[in-house]
Amino acid sequence: MNIDRHGVDLSNGLEEVPVLLEGSSARLSRPLFQYSPENTRGPGCTVDPSEVTLPGCSCLSHSCLTESCSCLQTHGRAYDTSTGTLLNLSTTDCGYCSPVFECNALCSCSDSCSNRSVQRGLRLGLEVYSTKNKGWGVRTLQAIPCGIFVCEYAGEVISLEEARHRQLAQTSMENNYIIAVREHAGAGSVTETFVDPAAVGNVGRFLNHSCCPNLLMQPVRVHSVVPRLALFAGRNIDAREELTFDYSGGYSNQAPVEVMATQSSDDALRVSRTDGLQRKECHCGAENCVHFLPLDLSIIN
Ligand SMILES: C[S@@+](CC[C@H](N)C(=O)[O-])C[C@H]1O[C@@H](n2cnc3c(N)ncnc32)[C@H](O)[C@@H]1O
Ligand SMILES: [Zn+2]
Ligand SMILES: [Zn+2]
Ligand SMILES: [Zn+2]
Repeated sequence: MNIDRHGVDLSNGLEEVPVLLEGSSARLSRPLFQYSPENTRGPGCTVDPSEVTLPGCSCLSHSCLTESCSCLQTHGRAYDTSTGTLLNLSTTDCGYCSPVFECNALCSCSDSCSNRSVQRGLRLGLEVYSTKNKGWGVRTLQAIPCGIFVCEYAGEVISLEEARHRQLAQTSMENNYIIAVREHAGAGSVTETFVDPAAVGNVGRFLNHSCCPNLLMQPVRVHSVVPRLALFAGRNIDAREELTFDYSGGYSNQAPVEVMATQSSDDALRVSRTDGLQRKECHCGAENCVHFLPLDLSIIN
């Protein structure tokens, strides 16, 4: 256990900044899992997420310019050049968004290129703490402006079959969420990614669901075709607020994913997840709470 004068660092020094475990919680019990800041290859995953599989640009400028960068020309600009915040938050709001590709290990631009954000890792002071009725949760120790990258939901990337197997083996007592992300890339092509943070994961595995969340999930590709499930601030967040996202992939009072799934849209994103066969009660406390955690039956059927 990595303990400095600020408390326990759950990341064991693997993150850029420590992931603190609330002082009193650290003495009572400590969650058991292997900390990994990034996705790892799990059973059935055909592509190693740590392999560089995407092409790079040949920009010699300090930061890539849309006019000349092949990355930005192919995939569009995802981040505001001056603030580094995620653009198109309004389209992400409805749970459908364009894919984000960052400059990668093969790009010749500098490490401070404005098309690099998620790959820089955790930069904010976050604390895992014991909530009243949701088990562990995560709060921010500093204010976070809208659109800023907060953290990933990292874990083992597994196949649909493995997700199904694990889901059926999981009891409702287990506090875990296997996230399934489906990206619709047009012409009926759908890319599915399943991330299970139970045994291997990062601070994201402690984020609770809310029907009125302050984070939104956006798949981001850096070096690999396997997306990272990145969480961005969906609004300005105050210091000490609990950080939450909508497990169904929506944002701010939007319709749940089951409804969104009936819409069709090219290059659209749908996020869904599984959590035991019985739906768990939601204790998010939001005015618009739908009283149950989202449940994706498509994995187990
Ligand atoms: C990704 S984990 C989040 C961290 C978890 N609270 C823990 O103690 O490790 C997901 C699990 O947290 C619990 N959870 C998350 N959001 C909740 C909510 N709004 N109400 C009740 N329980 C919640 C559920 O048990 C769920 O399966
Ligand atoms: Zn670049
Ligand atoms: Zn590039
Ligand atoms: Zn709720």
